Amino acid sequence: MSKAPIVLAVDTPDLSTAIEWVKATQDHISVFKLGLEFFLTFGADGIKAVKDVTDSDIFLDLKLHDIPHTVSGAAKAVAHLAPKFLTVHASGGQAMVKAAVDAMPNTLITGVTILTSLSEQDVQEVGFASNALNSAVSLAKVATSAGAAAIVCSPLEIAAVRSAVGNSAVIITPGVRPAEMVGSDDQQRTMTPEDAIAAGANFVVIGRPITQSWAKGAQAMKERAQEIGSLLI
Ligand code: C5P
Repeated sequence: MSKAPIVLAVDTPDLSTAIEWVKATQDHISVFKLGLEFFLTFGADGIKAVKDVTDSDIFLDLKLHDIPHTVSGAAKAVAHLAPKFLTVHASGGQAMVKAAVDAMPNTLITGVTILTSLSEQDVQEVGFASNALNSAVSLAKVATSAGAAAIVCSPLEIAAVRSAVGNSAVIITPGVRPAEMVGSDDQQRTMTPEDAIAAGANFVVIGRPITQSWAKGAQAMKERAQEIGSLLI
């Protein structure tokens, strides 16, 4: 059975729920995303507990951002967990991204560009010289030229980022919603998963459109992952 290019956002404060979600969906999901809240709560043991129940990959979403020496140390501290992806903020600059790349040669260091939670006004206020789209493209170039193998950007930025960084970089996009769910929650500037892949993304990050089906049980969640995944493979 082939797994879809979906990164499932395992956003739950409960470790046993996280493990049940992974077990229920792993036949159809390529990558499981474990974030800062998960890591700060359950630590390396929590990551290992998830890895124990799946052969799918781990996306460790720590969004590191500090001086290069500190990021290097942090990356070395999690290298033993062997995540396929580890996120760092591209705005930390080339030396910082490279420090992570050098510290984790077997992980795809993933540069986060502009958080899609920032409005155009926020982007100006924090001091970016250009709009979100152009800033995301600049940050993607910073990250890939420092050795990052993957980029996170909004679906609306995929095409511009792809043309800026070429075909070898892995592009991952959150903020996707199946067509029937558009406008039903807090994600505003969305694209469907199919359109995001067609625009040049390699993976889409999906959380609630799949995880909400857990309320109907493991089988329902598995079917939902298969249903969305089948649109992408
Ligand atoms: O539930 P939902 O599909 O909105 O989950 C999307 C996941 O992607 C969440 O883990 C969220 O934190 C993450 N994310 C996002 N937008 C970004 C960056 C990350 O929605 N710009």
